Formats: sequence, C-alpha cells, structure tokens
Amino acid sequence: MKPVEIKKDIFWVGAVDWNSRDFHGYSLSPRGTTYNAFLVKDEKITLFDTVKADFLNEFLCSIAQACGGTPRIDYMVVNHLEPDHAGCLDAIVERFHPEKIYCSPMGEKALRSYFHDSKDWPVEVVPSGASISIGKRTVQFIETRMLHWPDNMISYIPEDKIAFSSDAFGQNWASTERFCDEVDRAALRSALADYYANIVLPYSPVVLKLLDAMAGMKDLDIEMLCPDHGLIWRGADEVKYALDSYREFALQKPAKKAVIVYDTMWHSTEKMARAICDGLADEGISVRIMSVKHNHHSAVMREVLDAAAVLVGSPTHNNGILPLVADVLTYMKGLRPQNKIAAAFGSFGWSGECVKIITEHLSGMGMELIEPSVKVKNLPSHETYQACYELGKKVGAAINAKLSA
Ligand code: FEO
Repeated sequence: MKPVEIKKDIFWVGAVDWNSRDFHGYSLSPRGTTYNAFLVKDEKITLFDTVKADFLNEFLCSIAQACGGTPRIDYMVVNHLEPDHAGCLDAIVERFHPEKIYCSPMGEKALRSYFHDSKDWPVEVVPSGASISIGKRTVQFIETRMLHWPDNMISYIPEDKIAFSSDAFGQNWASTERFCDEVDRAALRSALADYYANIVLPYSPVVLKLLDAMAGMKDLDIEMLCPDHGLIWRGADEVKYALDSYREFALQKPAKKAVIVYDTMWHSTEKMARAICDGLADEGISVRIMSVKHNHHSAVMREVLDAAAVLVGSPTHNNGILPLVADVLTYMKGLRPQNKIAAAFGSFGWSGECVKIITEHLSGMGMELIEPSVKVKNLPSHETYQACYELGKKVGAAINAKLSA
C-alpha cells in the first residue's frame, strides 16, 4: 500500500483488507476492513502498531516509502497485541532492531505469550499517564484496559493533537479514502455502530469511564483520532462526533424498536414471528424480523444495539432449541446488552421445551421478560395467531411505557 501523510511527517502505513468478511473470527465485516498502523518521522522514527501478518510485504514497502530512503524504526509502540495489529511485530523487530518497544503493563504479558522468543527484545512497559520523547514530539499513554482486550492503550501526541486509539472508535471499512469526512455519513454511522455492537458493547461501562476521564484531562485536545480499523476522524467536530457516538452507544438508551430473532423448521415459528410483529407494529414500534438462517449473529447484534425489545423464537428440536438460535443467544449473552425487554415464543411437535429454554437464556441476560410466552403445537390456529398478536401488543405497550417513563 502507498503510505498517506495524514499530518506533517505522520504517515498512515496500514493495510486495506478488501476481502475481510470474518472479522476477528466471529463477526461479519461486509465492507472489508483496514489494519491501521502509523509512522511518525521525528528524531526517533516511531511506528505505532503493525498490520495482520498476511500484509507484511506491503507493510514493509509502505514503511520504506514513508521513510523516504533507508527505512528505519527506532521506537515501536504496541497499543494492542491482537494479531491483526501485532501480526508483524516479530518481523519488524528482526528487520529493524528497534531501540525500544513500548507497551502497557498488560501488553507485556500478552506480548510474551504471543512472541515466545521475545525475551531479549527491548520491551519497556509504560504505565497510564507516562510519556516519552521521540524528538520534537512527546507521546503520552492512556491505558484503556478491556477496550477491548486487557492490553489496549491510546497513544497521544500533544504537539500534533493526534491520538492513536487502538480498537476504540474504529469501523470495518475498506476504501481508498482514509478519513471519515470523505464517505457517506449514514453508512459510516452504521459501520461504527456495527463495530461497537459486536466488539465494544460488553465494555460499555469502561467506555463511559474513559469518556469522562478524557473530558477531565485538560491537556488532552484531540484534533485527529486514529483507530486501528477503518477511517480516521479529522478535525475537532469529527472527533467530538466519534466521542459523542460512543457515549450514546454505551448508554444503551433504547429506541422505539424491537428485534424478532427466530429459526424455523416447517415455518410455524416463522408465522408466529409475523403475527407478533403485527402486534408490535400496531403499538407504533419499528420491528426488524431476523431469521437466523438469513442473518448472521453479528447482523442481529447490530440491530439489538438500540432496540428496546428482543423477542426470540425457535421450534423444539431434540428436547432443545435449534442450533442457530442457541448460537445467537450465546453470542448475545457474551456481549451483555443492557436495558432490554424480552419475550419468547416457539412451536413444537411433542415435548415442547423451546419456550422454557429461551426464557432461561433471556432472563439469564437480565432482560425484562413479558409473559405469557406463546407456544404452538405443530401449526398456529386462529387462536394462537391471536395470542402471538397479543404478545406483540403487550411487548409494544411495555416499550411505550418504558420510553415515556
Ligand atoms: Fe482488531 Fe482488538 O483488535
């Protein structure tokens, strides 16, 4: 890739992965993604993060071009050890022999367990609040533990008002553009929310604390915010937009919206989903019906992020629920969505455990369950369609009451 000078002597030297669809191994990235790394040319040439190992060759070329001659890396800052960001760290160390490799306290632990031959590397742990000089510039470190791994940190260069924010404020977005202000805002907003819902959501309390702490740091004045994935936020207004969006996502304030997630065998549960939808819609609720056969669990979570209610349906299968429903419930539980109303429904042929199992999952996530759930034997009848419709109405009324409280 060609490097891009994003500020005087500060270069994006990352990689664009146009074909990425399986992001981090569990989430979809329909637009591809980028692995952002940044090189600052000062007395000490400093590299912030690397890229996924598959892109090593092009990465080395970008570094050489940015250095404008004989490439050199004096300092290496490792903001995050996940392999899509530290995947070329060993190659960089072998080739350039940096004088220092800076990382957070938890970063060192991760580094040692990812790079088993690193015992002679010049690793220097930088606690939160520490700063180093790289020449005319300083780099300040802010630990962002659990955002989204224990080792993450943000690096800030006050002289340029630029922050390298690691996982925070990123989006999966492969493009020739490098800045957020160059692309369609609605699509970008959706990608930002998608990334938050699938990567950052469980750490929302950490996000809120970080945003409060950042607001209280008098010396922190960010005019360019560079995440490790996607496009760069350029200018004070753009940075504010990113920070405000994160606050909004982290607060998990529900919209007048419900998500119905289901799987079906012979379409009975599917028909129930549509009748429930009618009840919700008649209460003025915007509804997304998402079959798990047609929607990946990460697409479901994108919609769940701002939904007030989650309704889950499955037929009974071998005394359990269908595997894709179990998958989405397991995935959802790990992401710890807060502040949700919920309901369960399903169909059965003989034993009928589906609703009980789904109910246990939903209440295990701390959701406010609306009863009675609806369970239908074989095929819905006029009466059971009505019961589904009533369940939708009841959930809709509960949403309206909650939003107007
Ligand atoms: Fe792509 Fe936690 O990083």
